[in-house]
Amino acid sequence: MNLSIQRRLVGSYLLVTCITVLILEIFLMVVVNYYYQHNVERILMNQGELSASFFQQYFADEDLAEQSERLLRGFAQNSGAQVQIISTSGELLQDSTGLPSSISMVSSQDVRDASQGIVGHWKGRDPVTEEPILAVSYPLVAQDNTVGIVRFATSLTETNRTVNQIMILLMVIGIIVIAMVALLSLFLSRTITKSVKDLKRAADRMTEGDFTARAHIRYRDELGSLAKTLNMMASKVVQNEKLKNDFISSVSHELRTPLTSIKGWVITLKSNGRGSNPLLHEGLDIIESESDRLTEMVDELLDFAKLDNGRLTLHRIPVQVSELLHQIGKQLAPRAERQKIAFEIEVHERLPGITADLNRLKQVMINLIDNALKFTEPYGRIRVEAEPAPGGILIRVQDTGAGIGEEELSNVFNKFYKVDQHASGSGLGLSISEQIVKLHHGEITMTSQLGEGTTVQIFLPSEVS
Ligand SMILES: Nc1ncnc2c1ncn2[C@@H]1O[C@H](COP(=O)(O)OP(=O)(O)OP(=O)(O)O)[C@@H](O)[C@H]1O
Ligand SMILES: [Mg+2]
Repeated sequence: MNLSIQRRLVGSYLLVTCITVLILEIFLMVVVNYYYQHNVERILMNQGELSASFFQQYFADEDLAEQSERLLRGFAQNSGAQVQIISTSGELLQDSTGLPSSISMVSSQDVRDASQGIVGHWKGRDPVTEEPILAVSYPLVAQDNTVGIVRFATSLTETNRTVNQIMILLMVIGIIVIAMVALLSLFLSRTITKSVKDLKRAADRMTEGDFTARAHIRYRDELGSLAKTLNMMASKVVQNEKLKNDFISSVSHELRTPLTSIKGWVITLKSNGRGSNPLLHEGLDIIESESDRLTEMVDELLDFAKLDNGRLTLHRIPVQVSELLHQIGKQLAPRAERQKIAFEIEVHERLPGITADLNRLKQVMINLIDNALKFTEPYGRIRVEAEPAPGGILIRVQDTGAGIGEEELSNVFNKFYKVDQHASGSGLGLSISEQIVKLHHGEITMTSQLGEGTTVQIFLPSEVS
């Protein structure tokens, strides 16, 4: 999840920077290239213009071919460029780099333009050396007639090299900028994803029921305020939970006293009214068993409140599980027989002893077997098994009863949850059992198939640290 947020953030940052850098670089490269070439051209044009006006002022009356050598010397004096003097027909009269032995013609576009009386520009490659060349030709005017052409040409190799170097530099700078943005955005997005991760971790723990979990508030931004809200919500849940538990435990405490007194009076009345009215006797029996049932339920509620508040502590002693199971078996066998359910207990002969709270463990086993008996029809079958497992023991309670649907199975360990709301019981048995097993650092799991039966498995470690 977080990875994709980070990827998205870094990706969009990079995309924007890449596009910006690319546009900027292209623009800069075009500008730099234009600037350098333009500069070279301007210098050549200055010299051409100067030379042309110089000719017009001082040599207009002379014959061009005769004076060409002197002219060339004057023109070439202050120029690093190649200077050529060309006749209007294109014949090369003088060349600052030395004249070819035979008569040669210059016919590039700039010369043709100049022979028409306009300033000519030409960019191209030297036919011999393949060098890039920039040339500017000016008409030499005498009495409003073009009598010749002066041509300034220079190689662009040096300029192009400089431009190339600048482009490489620009590209390197661009790459550095992109790399820096990538690093920065990675760092920036991490601050966001870290907060999100924190939030998720805290929320996950809260979903698992641990409301002591708190989201870490890193920054005072929206995520920070979300973390604050989440924390506040958790505190509220804890508060409500405590309120509920306090209510349950005070009510069940209050109920206990009248129940004890009812039970006491029933016993007194029974022992005094022996042999008298059988209806009265039957009534008293019912009152006694019902008040027993009520006491059990109140005790369960009290246990539950204690467990939930973390006030329940275990009194661990060495326990022989086989003994415990057989004892419970004896206690519940009559009920199984009454319900016509086959009830068997099978304990592995080399079952290791464990340290556990004997009474609480008994409570768990009775809860589980009670459930099995409650949800199994006559002629069904209940099996309790115990066997050694790595690091502890496994106890299984298996029945061939009603079973639980897949959707309900994840809820049965919840407090007050019953598949059938109208069934007897408070829906606390499994919840309490789970907490007791957890206090023993064990594990309880349930598998069930609707209409086939249910298996509850408990793992208990032999040594509890
Ligand atoms: N062996 C089982 N077979 C079928 N359903 C079961 C079995 N054990 C538990 N259940 C379902 O899980 C629910 C919760 O069980 P739990 O023991 O927590 O509560 P309860 O038995 O209804 O009440 P209590 O145990 O508090 O008297 C039951 O109501 C029942 O719907
Ligand atoms: Mg139960």
